[in-house]
Amino acid sequence: MEVGQPSRTALAVARARAQHQTLDDPRVFTDPIATRIVAGTEPTGEFDRGVDAEAARVRRLTIAARSRFADDRVAAAVAGGTRQVVVLGAGLDTAAYRNPHPDVRYVEVDHPDTQAWKRNRLREAGIEVPPTLTFAPVDFERATLADGPAAAVLDRAADTVFVWLGVIVYLPRAAIDDTLGYIAGRKADLVFDYPVPPSPEVCARAERVAAAGEPWLSYFTADEMRTLLEGFGFTLLEDRPAGELLGEYGAPTAHPIGSGIRLVHAATR
Ligand SMILES: C[S@@+](CC[C@H](N)C(=O)[O-])C[C@H]1O[C@@H](n2cnc3c(N)ncnc32)[C@H](O)[C@@H]1O
Repeated sequence: MEVGQPSRTALAVARARAQHQTLDDPRVFTDPIATRIVAGTEPTGEFDRGVDAEAARVRRLTIAARSRFADDRVAAAVAGGTRQVVVLGAGLDTAAYRNPHPDVRYVEVDHPDTQAWKRNRLREAGIEVPPTLTFAPVDFERATLADGPAAAVLDRAADTVFVWLGVIVYLPRAAIDDTLGYIAGRKADLVFDYPVPPSPEVCARAERVAAAGEPWLSYFTADEMRTLLEGFGFTLLEDRPAGELLGEYGAPTAHPIGSGIRLVHAATR
């Protein structure tokens, strides 16, 4: 990320979720505040320069599908008794503002620059911060969840769902390991996405994202991801390409973008 600047990709994916609400049929992810949270923000067209309409559509659907995947796994964990949800690298994610359970607390962890920008955005958009939500500013490259602001607000003993969408790719391996190590020591579900080593189709996008100051740093094959998670003691429950989920959600695609991102649900049980 650019020093002192909020994440530009956080805005781009939030705008994609907002566009998904009206442009795509079927809609695979419904978010009644997706549009409000980006209202008045500037376009992020630099990421889609030269991209054909079908690639832009599948990318939007992939972003929507990962939020649907996370929402569904969080709902299942909450139904099973979990009462703490931690959104890592939250960006303009809106799950905490759609939480219907007064006894389920959310913690949003994000880079301090992005989090300050989000809080301002919420004020500008008139979106109320619910009493169930706490913010914890953390730069994963300089601190871990075990220190500072996150440690002060996380209930370490509580069953927790950690949601980590669209973040791993921007982190160096040491920061990924630190976070996995922290979560592995809790009673937890973990939901995240990761990119497989890039195909030619996504290399051009990687270049545009790097030009915006947020280079993609970490990729994994599915075998590498299984080895990594099992090495930390996680049970891998699901590791599925986004395209497969889109088929399940009624929007099948064979586009390579759909196989470039995989969604994981792992747990420490
Ligand atoms: C593509 S956005 C995804 C945001 C959100 N999870 C979503 O899906 O809408 C990437 C997020 O990772 C966060 N991030 C990137 N590097 C980070 C770091 N070193 N420490 C904390 N957060 C970081 C950014 O602030 C941003 O919120």
